Amino acid sequence: MRTHTDSTTFWENHYSGLDARLGTKPNAVLEDVLATLAPTPGTALDLGCGHGGDALWLAAHGWDVTAVDVSRTALDRVAEGARDRGVADRVHPARHDLAETFPTGRFDLVSAAYFHTPLDIPRTRVLRRAAESVADSGLLVIVEHASVAPWSWQTGEDVRFPTPEQVLASLELEDDGWHVERCHAPQRVATGPQGQTATVTDNILALRRTP
Ligand SMILES: C[S@@+](CC[C@H](N)C(=O)[O-])C[C@H]1O[C@@H](n2cnc3c(N)ncnc32)[C@H](O)[C@@H]1O
Repeated sequence: MRTHTDSTTFWENHYSGLDARLGTKPNAVLEDVLATLAPTPGTALDLGCGHGGDALWLAAHGWDVTAVDVSRTALDRVAEGARDRGVADRVHPARHDLAETFPTGRFDLVSAAYFHTPLDIPRTRVLRRAAESVADSGLLVIVEHASVAPWSWQTGEDVRFPTPEQVLASLELEDDGWHVERCHAPQRVATGPQGQTATVTDNILALRRTP
C-alpha cells in the first residue's frame, strides 16, 4: 500500500516530466473569490502550489506569498517564475510534506487549490491545520474536485466525492469563530493536459475567521 512517505518521489517524478509552462496561470475560482472577498492584499499561504499559477498571480497583485509544495522541482520553477515576473521579493517557496510538517505563522489568506494526491495522506488533518493558520479576519479558501474529469487519475465508478457541506463539517470549526462566505459546488468547463475540455464540478469553500 502506498503511504504519505511516497509523496516526494511521486510528485518529483510528476513535475520532472511535466512541461514547466503548465500550471503557471491562476485558478479562475481563486481569482473570482478574492475579487469579491479579499480585494486588499496581505499575506498568503498557498498549499500544494505546484508550478505556482496562484502564487505568482497573488504576488503580482501585491500579496506576500509563502508557496508550499512537497516537490523541490515545482518550487524551483515557482522561484524562477517569480524572478521572471519581478516578484521574487513577494514569493517564498517552502518545501514541506504537509503530512509531516506545516509552515509556522498566520496568514490573511490560506488557499488549498486542488490539493489532491493519489497517495494516502491525512488530507483532512492538513486542512484543519490550514484553518488554524488563518489570521483574524482572514480567509480560508478550499477549491477541490467534486467530479471526475475524463483525464483524471481518479477514474472508476466507485469514486465518491464529499459535498461542500461535508467538507465544511470535516474541518470541525467552531461555529462562532467563522463566517461561511461560500460553500457550494458549481460546474465549469475545464481544459485537460492535451487541450481537451469537459464540464466538471468543484467544491468551493471560502471561510472567514471572525475576530
Ligand atoms: C493536483 S496538484 C494542484 C496544484 C495547484 N495547486 C493547482 O491548483 O494547479 C496537487 C499539488 O499538491 C502537492 N502535494 C501533494 N501532496 C503533498 C504533500 N504531502 N505535501 C505538500 N504538497 C503536496 C503536489 O506536489 C501538487 O503540486
